[in-house]
This record gives sequence, C-alpha cells and structure tokens, in this order.
Amino acid sequence: MSLGRRLIVASLVIGVNGCALVGDAIPPDIARHPPLKKAFEKRFPIGAAVEPRQLGTRAGSLLAWHFNSVTAENAMKPANLQPLEGRFEFTGADAVVDFASRRGMRVRGHTLLWHEETPEWFWRGADGRPASREVVLARLRAHIVAVMSRYRGRVYAWDVVNEAVHPLGPGCLRDTRWLRVVGPDYIEHAFRFAHEADPGARLFLNDFETTEPAKRRCLLELVRDLRARGVPIHGVGHQLHIDLERPTVGDVDETLGLFAALGVENQVTELDMSVAASALPPAERLESQATRYAALFEVFARRPDVTAVSFWGISDAHTWLNAKRTPGNLDQPLLFDAQQAPKSAYFAITREKRVPINPNN
Ligand code: XIL
Repeated sequence: MSLGRRLIVASLVIGVNGCALVGDAIPPDIARHPPLKKAFEKRFPIGAAVEPRQLGTRAGSLLAWHFNSVTAENAMKPANLQPLEGRFEFTGADAVVDFASRRGMRVRGHTLLWHEETPEWFWRGADGRPASREVVLARLRAHIVAVMSRYRGRVYAWDVVNEAVHPLGPGCLRDTRWLRVVGPDYIEHAFRFAHEADPGARLFLNDFETTEPAKRRCLLELVRDLRARGVPIHGVGHQLHIDLERPTVGDVDETLGLFAALGVENQVTELDMSVAASALPPAERLESQATRYAALFEVFARRPDVTAVSFWGISDAHTWLNAKRTPGNLDQPLLFDAQQAPKSAYFAITREKRVPINPNN
C-alpha cells in the first residue's frame, strides 16, 4: 500500500473526532455540537451510564460523540452477571465493553458488591441453611475473579463496593447481610480479591450523599483505616445524585478536598441533577440547572484529585429518576433533553454559544 493510501486508511480508522467509529454515521444534528469530552480532554474522561439496548440507537450516537467513558447502568451488577451460581451472563456487559473498546472509550466497572444486587444464591448453604461466612467469601472471590479477569485491560476502574456506609449503622456501616454474615471485613476482602484479579485496575468505594457531614465522617474514617492497613483502595466514587439546592457547590468542593487529603482519587460516578421538586417555573429550572452544573464543573476541572466525571444516563429520554414518574411530570436531570438535544446545561458547561438550528440540517 502506498504511503498516501495508508494515511487515508489511518485517518478513516481514527475517525473525525477520535472516538466515534467511522461506521457510526453520527447524525448531523448531533455532530454540529462540539463534543462535551473535548471541553475536558486535558482534565478527565467524561462518562455516561448506558443500557446495552441503547447502544444501537440514537442514544448510542450521542454517547459515542460526546463521551469518552462508559458505565453499564445495570449490566455489570452481580445479580445480572451471575444470576445463578457459576452461570455467567456476559452478553449485555460484553456489548457495553465492546462498544467502548472499539471507539477507544474507557469503561468504569459498576459494581462488584452491592447489597441491593446480590443474588439470593449467595446466601444459601448446601442444605437449605444460611451459607457460612467462608462460603460467602469464596463466592465473592469467585465472582470478582471471573468478572475482572474477563474485562482485564478494558475496564480501567471498578466500583468494588457500593453503598457500604451508613452513619447510623453499626460501626458506621450499613446494616446488610454482608455485614451480618461476613462481618465488617467484607469490604477489605472485596478490595483484596479485586486487586488480585486485576492488579492494574483502579479500585473505588462508591457511595451517595458523600457530602452529608455524618456520613462523610464515616466514609473518611473507613478510607483512612483501609489505607492505613494497606488495603488496595485507590479512590472514592461520589455518586452525586443531586438537586437544584443541595449539596452546595462549596460542600462538594470541601468534600473532595477532605478525601484528596487522604491521598485518594475522587471520581464523580453517577452525576445527575433533579429539577422535579423545584419550586421554580419550568424555564427557570433549566437555567438554574445550567448555572449550577457550570459551577460544579469549574470545581471538578480545578481539582487535580478529580480523575473522572460520569453522568448517570445520556439524556433526559432515559433516566432512572423517571422510572416511577408519569408523562407530564418527568424529571430532566441530564445535559441533553428528552429529544436528545443539548440543554442550557450543555452550553453552560462547554461554554459553547447556542447556534440557531438550520432547518436544512
Ligand atoms: C440504578 C439504575 O439506574 C436502575 O435502572 C436500577 O433499577 C436500579 O439501580 N446508585 C447506584 C446505581 O449505584 O447502581 C443505581 O442505578 C442508582 C443509585
């Protein structure tokens, strides 16, 4: 092949925006807006949670164009990956990882241990009696090793344990079967198994309301203790399911600072901003959301300890916050609207000027 020809082929493979695949055929009304990920390319990957069935739709195009990181919204949760002992269901998770790998996008793994998504068989012993601590830990190890080995090198970070802390729980931990059957060291075992399974993966403790003072104290203490004892934990995942008022941007900044001082990374893992409960009129809600999102991203961009920011969804057309809402009363927490067009928040974060829509486009 001549050099010229080789260059043409190379540029085709790399694609115009360095991420979307040539075969993607990004719709022009999507591609006319600069990719969100470009605004932060020198700082951190920008991600979104996705369901496998969204990948081949317009949501997949939006994901490929604007984002350079992906999280499986549900497909990598233990009950979905291993519904029966030893019976792994990798189809959905594989689709998400393949989509990302083919486009050079990163993947955050979510999650290896979560009390809400632990399949029942984990707790059952051979004779119908409750499984012992040893059996549960052996199952946890087998699950973590199988999953992380499959995605080694393609999933760069894992939420190893999800939502383990509770300020009113025993020893600041949530009162779950994990705590009762295994004991508080289930957390450290999960991290050790994960590090053993993929020593190159970044390992996170993920939780919500990390800015809430009592919970934050618990989480800080837990992270400090794990680090002091040499448990391989690299960072804290802050879900950041927030609304128009709380937590304040100052609370978020202060919280990130406290974790950074422990020497761990901060990743924003499930960002969304509910407007549904706001007293503001609808138009003002979205402007207020835009201003608040922009202020948050200024904090993220200025803090070297923030190493990733991911949204919990791509557009308002699909968000977990609407699972129980009725049409006419839907929430609008993300940067793209229900028609999957950019909202004020997108323009505020990227500092892009709104361009009038060309009807011929
Ligand atoms: C949610 C998904 O978005 C829903 O589709 C599912 O029914 C329940 O889980 N914190 C987490 C996520 O860590 O895994 C949750 O995702 C949202 C709250």
